[in-house]
Amino acid sequence: MEFQEVVRKRKMVRSFQDRPLPKAVVDRIVANVQRAPSAGFSQGWGFLVLEGKDETARYWDALWPANRRADWGWPDLFNAPVLVICLSNKMQYLRRYAEADKGWADMDERRWPVPYWDIDTGMAALLALLTAVDAGLGAVFFGVPDQARLRATFGVPDEYTAIGVVAIGYPKPTDRPSPSLGRGHRAVADVVRRGRWS
Ligand SMILES: Cc1cc2nc3c(=O)[nH]c(=O)nc-3n(C[C@H](O)[C@H](O)[C@H](O)COP(=O)(O)O)c2cc1C
Repeated sequence: MEFQEVVRKRKMVRSFQDRPLPKAVVDRIVANVQRAPSAGFSQGWGFLVLEGKDETARYWDALWPANRRADWGWPDLFNAPVLVICLSNKMQYLRRYAEADKGWADMDERRWPVPYWDIDTGMAALLALLTAVDAGLGAVFFGVPDQARLRATFGVPDEYTAIGVVAIGYPKPTDRPSPSLGRGHRAVADVVRRGRWS
């Protein structure tokens, strides 16, 4: 697919067919996330891939209890054949920047203007979303409500924080529109200033 079309088509898809993905597509998605930029090339991230009913059910059962699922408007979300849990690792950045070429040997977190570990992992998540669209699939990014439970369920070390999950699958038509549909994108003139802000 042409790049501009991938960008234009990328919308969060919350309803999936109950259908597995070809292995090659999953492999491409997890290879592409690794191409994201990262501060100091720290690559302080991890991607926990859950594939198939047994693995994805462990996620839903642990993090989307029945009452939460009942309130959720897109029941076919839970058909998603693949979940990519995107994990950021702050310590890996602090250690990387303590190296000689960076020189922040004190590993003081206050040096960081913003949490690059989460930003970089978010960029990687976007690559997963875009790769899914390019492969003719749909995907949605959503947050993880309980880090401790996620870590305990899947044996994720404490150093990692889940910035979110990318659920991927074949889109299924749904009557329920995306919450973004009515809002539309903000006007360019509203968000972009040229030369100076004011
Ligand atoms: C950081 C982040 C967190 C999000 N969390 C959720 C979520 O928990 N549940 C959900 O349905 N969508 C979630 N979304 C998707 C947004 O609702 C969606 O991106 C927004 O409405 C714009 O729609 P579009 O991506 O389809 O253009 C999240 C998106 C981002 C970037």
